[in-house]
Amino acid sequence: MPYSEKVIDHYEHPRNVGTLDSDANDVGTGMVGAPACGDVMRLQIKVDDKTGIIEDAKFKTYGCGSAIASSSLVTEWVKGKTLDEAAALKNSEIAEELALPPVKIHCSILAEDAVKAAIADYRAKQAKKA
Ligand code: FES
Ligand code: FES
Repeated sequence: MPYSEKVIDHYEHPRNVGTLDSDANDVGTGMVGAPACGDVMRLQIKVDDKTGIIEDAKFKTYGCGSAIASSSLVTEWVKGKTLDEAAALKNSEIAEELALPPVKIHCSILAEDAVKAAIADYRAKQAKKA
């Protein structure tokens, strides 16, 4: 099955690959796996404590082209967004942007879940601090 041009672009030039300090109080880390295929995605966000705006995002994905493209895309999307805006992000928007075929929809779900997990981790840290 051919990948869409956008998937190939993100796959060949992934945005925001890397690691943030997962121990930092302003960093949230989401680690999710897809049981269907065994792919694993780690997505991290760095949040401005005062504004609640996501300043930076990084990912590492061990998985297929669509999973890498989905995580690359969401790191671009969440930057500059508030936590609530980022939490409202839907995998269908990712799948649509990347023109993912039905068998690759779970790759975009992985990216949505990773964003939600990163936000939950950040919020748990803030709650502990308070
Ligand atoms: Fe093997 Fe996604 S199923 S990389
Ligand atoms: Fe499993 Fe893409 S994440 S095939």
